[in-house]
Amino acid sequence: MDTKTLLEWSAKYHTPNYGARAPICIVRGEGARLWDSDGREYLDFGAGLAVANLGHCHPRITGAIREAAATLLHVSNLYHTAPQIHLAKLLCEHSFADRVFFCNSGAEANEAAIKLARKYGRERGASDRYEIIATRNSFHGRTLGALSATGQERYQQGFEPMVPGFKHVAYNDLRAMERAIDSRTAAILVEPIQGEGGVHVPDDGYLPGLRKLCDAAGILLILDEIQTGVARTGKLWAYEHVGAAPDIMTLAKGLANGVPIGATLAREEVASVLTAGTHGSTFGGTPFVSSVALATLSTVIDEKIPERAARLGRYLMDALGGFPRDVVREVRGRGLLIGIELTKAAGPVVDACRDKGVIVLSAGEKVVRLAPPLIVDENDCQRALETLRSSL
Ligand SMILES: Cc1ncc(COP(=O)(O)O)c(C=O)c1O
Repeated sequence: MDTKTLLEWSAKYHTPNYGARAPICIVRGEGARLWDSDGREYLDFGAGLAVANLGHCHPRITGAIREAAATLLHVSNLYHTAPQIHLAKLLCEHSFADRVFFCNSGAEANEAAIKLARKYGRERGASDRYEIIATRNSFHGRTLGALSATGQERYQQGFEPMVPGFKHVAYNDLRAMERAIDSRTAAILVEPIQGEGGVHVPDDGYLPGLRKLCDAAGILLILDEIQTGVARTGKLWAYEHVGAAPDIMTLAKGLANGVPIGATLAREEVASVLTAGTHGSTFGGTPFVSSVALATLSTVIDEKIPERAARLGRYLMDALGGFPRDVVREVRGRGLLIGIELTKAAGPVVDACRDKGVIVLSAGEKVVRLAPPLIVDENDCQRALETLRSSL
């Protein structure tokens, strides 16, 4: 089928919610390279939306996919399967958590976290605690619960009323958070770095400060590491940069390198309120996806991918610091999650980069976001930087 016809059918048959899709059809990927249906090669500095952390068709992941697909795709959660057990164990051994619930996406992982926090607040709190304090400019997903937690009205418009029980305060503002906590508060929910909201990195004292506030008030700290997790920021989990472990952490995106998965991790005491029958998912943690996530996480750990992301992130940030100040207002980020705030709209810059063969993302109106596969090398970074500079 020719590309022109495919794009016409896309315009005709898809719901129009992805209005501004790029006018190309991607057919193949390898490492940090993608190819479109006309045979054009692209350097991928988006990794989907910060998903393919090990790059496209990584041999270990492709091998795990082949083997899992030929062994057992699906059984329900009425039964045990070894890959799901091994994955939960590996996640717990490499994080603060004691227990894991598996689902299929970031939004669902946050739904589970919200439900868990409410149930914990109701059962263990000193009063009827159900409210969750999130932050302005955050992004937590598109389901109604996660959307209600999201602190950006533009995503909520037309879908009101939102689910009650959410409050929003300014990000990186401990005083505002402290003032917002009251006898109804069950939890604080934040991203360690606001990703979709424009790659905003809080002060180093912010997460430890939130941890202290939660401990003092007897409430839970939920970290949404859906974008920052799995080595993206130069540590396996972004909270490790500042040593402030949460009570609940949500993961998705990079956890199975592109195969859909979500996970909600929690400390024992918190997880224990999710008693039999209180939550579930048909597809959550199938042997197939668990095998792929297990291969992904093992590869990330074995190949010291966090260190690599940290090193290349510094390389990019240093170079971006020398970009012309009349167009680049600020460069923010950690590891290979980088936001370049421009003095003008980011959209045309993203398009110009793509026309020159480099895929980058935006995050909000004026921020170009770089979130390449974490396996990129210095030459890839150099090419991305040159393309970006000539596209500003
Ligand atoms: C921080 C964060 N939370 C939640 C989500 C929602 O994830 P999903 O699209 O898998 O539902 C995203 C997606 O961009 C995200 O960046």
